[in-house]
Amino acid sequence: MNKRKNFIETKEYKRFAEFCGACIKYKYIGICYGLPGVGKTLSSKYYSNWDSIEKQIDYKTLNEAGLDADEKILEAKTIFYTAPAVRATKMTDQIHTIGFRMNMARTMYKERTEGTEGDYSTATYSDIDLIIIDEIDRLKLQHLEQLRDIYDRNDIAMIFIGMPGIEKRLARYPQLFSRIGFAHEFDNLSKDETHHILEYKWQELGLSIKLEDFSDYEAITSIIKITNGNFRLIQRLFMQIDRILEINKLETITTEVVEAARDSLVIGIK
Ligand SMILES: Nc1ncnc2c1ncn2[C@@H]1O[C@H](COP(=O)(O)OP(=O)(O)O)[C@@H](O)[C@H]1O
Ligand SMILES: [Mg+2]
Repeated sequence: MNKRKNFIETKEYKRFAEFCGACIKYKYIGICYGLPGVGKTLSSKYYSNWDSIEKQIDYKTLNEAGLDADEKILEAKTIFYTAPAVRATKMTDQIHTIGFRMNMARTMYKERTEGTEGDYSTATYSDIDLIIIDEIDRLKLQHLEQLRDIYDRNDIAMIFIGMPGIEKRLARYPQLFSRIGFAHEFDNLSKDETHHILEYKWQELGLSIKLEDFSDYEAITSIIKITNGNFRLIQRLFMQIDRILEINKLETITTEVVEAARDSLVIGIK
């Protein structure tokens, strides 16, 4: 199977990006909730260009900061952070470290490229306008308070990413809830968009199938029905389809193949 996976800018991604923009504009805390596998984490990382930024701030010594940085660090205004499954007490420090490192890499990159002396005095979050916290469901009230404190002390927006129901849970904490400006539901792909992706963008999903591999539209339709527009299920279903084609030395994806693939997926499919 082709390993290269590209991010597809779906309608849901565009709605998410708009939501981020609105939170930034009003400097609010926003909640984004959606079922597992719809693409919340990947969309947040794509929005914040996190794969690239994370590498650039992964320096061992301060002297190395900025050596691997590229001009993307100058545009980086979003911190992406995953709430820890355990020991959330260090969260404030960890987020602060990320901000500090982004600042350092940015300043040193400017020194290197512009030949000017960098200004190291800028506050950690002065170039940051948004902090996205993923897996917010993991946090207890006292940890959420840490986030509220970061929000209150800085002139930034925050987005909490979680599962459906998180917005109701957070409503129980009035201190925090009063600061929440928007809630946004991250939805599944629509039928039409799933269809479009399966027909034209399968390569970007890192799948080795081709449209000709489908025996008929019925096979595509059953994939849409089974996965219900959930990205992770689409990926997993195709891994099984690939396996079944290989084991049986088949060339085309028929409805039977799709159904066999579904039956071999134990979890998550009704
Ligand atoms: N926009 C996208 N383009 C391509 N693949 C995607 C996209 N969104 C999600 N995926 C696929 O779906 C999987 C699950 O996405 P993820 O962001 O982890 O979901 P969530 O955080 O909502 O549980 C990803 O690992 C990826 O394979
Ligand atoms: Mg996730």
